[in-house]
This record gives sequence, structure tokens and C-alpha cells, in this order.
Amino acid sequence: MTSYPAAIAHRGMSTLAPENTMAAFVKCIDYNVASFEFDVDVIGDGSVIVIHDDKLDRTTNGKGGYYNKNFSDIRKLDAGKWFSKTYTFERIPELMTVVEFLNKQAMEANLEIKPSKSGDKLRESLIDGIIVSLDALQFKNAILISSFDMELLSEMQRRAPQYRRACLFESTDEPIMDQVNRWIEEAKKVEAEAIHPPHDDLTEEAVRAMVDAGFQVNAWTVNDLDRAAELGSWGVRAVMTDIAQDFPEEARQQRPISKPTVITD
Ligand code: G3P
Ligand code: MG
Repeated sequence: MTSYPAAIAHRGMSTLAPENTMAAFVKCIDYNVASFEFDVDVIGDGSVIVIHDDKLDRTTNGKGGYYNKNFSDIRKLDAGKWFSKTYTFERIPELMTVVEFLNKQAMEANLEIKPSKSGDKLRESLIDGIIVSLDALQFKNAILISSFDMELLSEMQRRAPQYRRACLFESTDEPIMDQVNRWIEEAKKVEAEAIHPPHDDLTEEAVRAMVDAGFQVNAWTVNDLDRAAELGSWGVRAVMTDIAQDFPEEARQQRPISKPTVITD
């Protein structure tokens, strides 16, 4: 029997609706996908918004950066029309709206903190805003916080250790096991529970080393079902994917964030 890792909808159901919008998160319900990934950064008034890029241009009708904007500017922007006319008027959500959605739908999510280039003061506001929003979570294990930015993760560890953390990494030219050893060391420093590696160079030995070191392994971004199954057979618990709708039902319904280990009867 093929054992797929859990499917985490990357930026929501991002091939069916505009990424990182409430429409993309609501689509998870239609397809019985229990968990999604989304990205957050901070704007000029300290609000925490859901967006991937550090510029507005690709996913909204706005232009340029947002570190000098207030939420009253951001809420005017259309974040859906670029994707299709059906989504005209879709807005950039605030983090708090996503938290309320998770509470209401009893869903779970991987919150990725972007490596914000907003400067020291706003980076502090980013952490403040995340903590205030997460404190409204009814079930704190419904969120796993990840980042490529180890400083921001370390700040979360210091200020709000109750929210579980995952270290995100990109590949380098080093041999994969050298990368893995470094990832494990970094993850230990911030007391992360999970490592989120890019899937491309992963081998069975690499996955087993992370699992044996006590980490959950959630790989990104896997848009091929055979590759997903292979990763699952090596011990990868979940994959971030743009095509969660194509995964088998059992992979969509799993809850790899609130139930990090596979439960076998
Ligand atoms: O969290 C996995 C993945 O989302 C990291 O890359 O650039 O899509 O946020 P990115
Ligand atoms: Mg992301």
C-alpha cells in the first residue's frame, strides 16, 4: 500500500484560488484539506498581513513595497483579479482573520514568517502582532510557525515558546548530508519540532537522519504524487503542495500539525 505524507495546501489552494487569500483557505474545506501553509509580513502601522512577496505587484493591483503602508491602504487593494475575474475584490487578509477562520473551522495551519526586511522596529512589531493574534487561537497546537529567518524564530522562542516552531531551509551546493547536519544543529538552537527542507535533494538517508534526531520532516514544495509517496515512505510526515486537491483523501484529511506523528492503531 502506498503511504502518502499529509498534504498541506501551499499558500492555501493556490492553483484554484488566489494564493494567501481567504478564498484559497476556504477552498480547503471544499476539498477536505485539513491544513494549509501561509506567509506573513508586517506593514508600516504594525499590522501583520498575509502575503508572500515583499512587493505588492505580482498578487495585487498595488505597486511596490508595503513597509510604509497602513492597513487602510492595504484593504483597498484587489488581491484576486490577477488570478481570475471570479476573485475580483478578494482582499489581503490580516493574520487575525486567519486565526478566527482556524478557530471557526477547526482547521490547522503552518504560518511562515517571511524574512522581513522592514527594519528592527517593524520586525519587533511583526513578532508582537503575531503573538497577539495567536493568543486568540482556541487550540494552540493548530499552528506551526516556520521561517527561513532564524532570528525571528529565536525571538518567537524567547517571547512565546508555547507556539511550536519549524526551521525552513533552502538547498545549497553542499553535499546533502552536510546540509542535513547543519539543519539539525540550527533546529536544535531554536528548539524547533520540525525541519522544513526543500524536497529536491532529499534522500532516504537524509530524511532518516532528521527523523532519528527527533524532528518531524515536512518538505516543500512537492507537486508530483509519485515523489510525494517516495518521500512518505522515507518518513516525511507532510509535504507543502500546490495541488493538494489531487492527493488521495487520506492525505488531505490528515492533521500533521496538531498530530505531528503518524498514529497507527
Ligand atoms: O513553507 C514552504 C514554502 O512556502 C517556502 O517557500 O517561498 O513558497 O514561502 P515560499
Ligand atoms: Mg511559504
